[in-house]
Amino acid sequence: MLQLLVLHGPNLNLLGKREPGIYGAQTLAFIDEMLSETAQQFSASLDIFQSNHEGVLVDRIQAALGHQQGILINPGAYTHTSVAIRDAIAGVGLPTVEVHLSNIYQRESFRHHSFIAPVAIGQVSGFGVESYRLGLQALVSHLRSQSAQLS
Ligand code: DQA
Repeated sequence: MLQLLVLHGPNLNLLGKREPGIYGAQTLAFIDEMLSETAQQFSASLDIFQSNHEGVLVDRIQAALGHQQGILINPGAYTHTSVAIRDAIAGVGLPTVEVHLSNIYQRESFRHHSFIAPVAIGQVSGFGVESYRLGLQALVSHLRSQSAQLS
């Protein structure tokens, strides 16, 4: 069974209350539940974690090595600032999909740059909670085709 790490960055714990016009009305608990159901369909097992702290997210990425085969991450505002999270993803070398609820390219110009995108296998942005489901699906199919190529 695939073991995957799901990381939610800062302020995503406020989903439901936080700028619903941009991020929607669904809570983080709802997203986690939806991801767990989707993962079951894909025979994948998820370890889901949210933190408002950059170093804690770096620690979790490092801890995935040897335990998880891939990472699904919404780095929140750290997308646009964090060399440390980018280096952690590059350092562990685990296939990573970056997701965003909002379309970051339609918003303020400071959100147009992602430090994470160059070290991710891909990015899903702008589909609300569906971004997470699509991102998970893409990560699983990438990992499955990778392991099929190896065998
Ligand atoms: C976000 C987009 C980021 O620019 C923002 O800082 C967030 C959420 C999104 O999911 O749309 O916190 O990652």
